[in-house]
Amino acid sequence: MQRKRIAVVPGDGIGKEVIPQALMVIQASGAPVDFTEFDWSADRYLKDGTTIPADGFAMLARDFDAIFVGALGDPRVKTNIHAKEILLGMRFQMDLYANVRPVKLFDASLCPLKNVRVEDLNFTVIRENTEGVYMDIGGVFKQGTPDEVATQEDINTRKGVERIIRFAFDYARANRRKKVMMTDKSNVMTYAGGLWQRVFQEVAAEYSEITPQHMFVDALCLQMIREPQSLEVIVTNNMFGDILTDLAAALQGGLGMAASGNIHPSRTSMFEPVHGSAPPLAGKNVANPMGSILSAAMMLAHLELRGEAERIESAVIDAVREGRRTQDIGGSMGTREVAEWIAKRVTA
Ligand code: NAD
Ligand code: IPM
Ligand code: MN
Repeated sequence: MQRKRIAVVPGDGIGKEVIPQALMVIQASGAPVDFTEFDWSADRYLKDGTTIPADGFAMLARDFDAIFVGALGDPRVKTNIHAKEILLGMRFQMDLYANVRPVKLFDASLCPLKNVRVEDLNFTVIRENTEGVYMDIGGVFKQGTPDEVATQEDINTRKGVERIIRFAFDYARANRRKKVMMTDKSNVMTYAGGLWQRVFQEVAAEYSEITPQHMFVDALCLQMIREPQSLEVIVTNNMFGDILTDLAAALQGGLGMAASGNIHPSRTSMFEPVHGSAPPLAGKNVANPMGSILSAAMMLAHLELRGEAERIESAVIDAVREGRRTQDIGGSMGTREVAEWIAKRVTA
């Protein structure tokens, strides 16, 4: 197989610590990949004003098979402009319309809920990744006065809604899942919700072996806590997907455990842990590297390196079950020590 080219953007904070560890684990797996690192981050922005170079997105799409990102966000950059331009820039400009966030429990001890077994928590959130309130369309009027008005538009296109719903059904089919649940707030947001409802019914009719379901997003939050075993594939808009996946991350042991892929099925896609740059943890060798390592495994599977991906995921499961853990999930090991243990297990 031809070697795969991976662009690596560690970013800020703990991104700079967990990403090198995940790269070491990929290398230990023997996957035929080459890394090229880019320093796009708060440090770079504060040094010379660069967020991402002018041809950055075109270069990534042209020269790489996948992108691996840590986290972006730094208290020194109050506007968060670099994170918006780099991270949301990749998602929007590269049209990575499906944000795939699997939710799996590797050991019952990681779940904060009572009586949840490993097999009870295994669902995936498919989050629309290019539209919604994230498009930053809106404005303010009479700013700073008692009469101030602020608007923030929720953009939902027929094309965008249809392709994410279709992606969710295709994902369910490919992963032999039997149910796809669309979640929205169509009882209040009637225009956008109406579009999602109509398109969901139309697309669902093409997948006769999959049961379509619907819940309002507030009720789904309750369901996710009370009966997580009932969930298989959830499809939703950008904002609800963002919120639901932090809640879902808590069920699997916290943000340190959650992985994601930002995918366009026929373009260079991007993989990143769900967590942010966690400034208070940065530089202390305490951040959990598992979310990044699991994101690396998702990336390898996406690049058809399935054997390597599976070995990495099972090494993470072994690490969790054998207590090789960082503090956030009840252990006492450091970022590097956990990753080194996993790398060794992958090599063995
Ligand atoms: P965060 O994910 O950085 O942290 C939230 C909580 O989870 C904190 O308690 C943190 O200590 C903990 N946590 C996160 N990752 C962890 C890990 N690997 N191991 C152990 N504990 C971990 O979210 P935040 O505090 O809301 O945001 C901090 C910065 O990160 C902000 O600038 C924000 O905009 C940015 N951010 C970036 C991304 C991204 O790049 N994808 C995602 C979320 C937040
Ligand atoms: C995520 C993050 C981002 C988002 C932020 C950092 C812009 O929270 O990836 O979940 O809201 O999508
Ligand atoms: Mn988020």
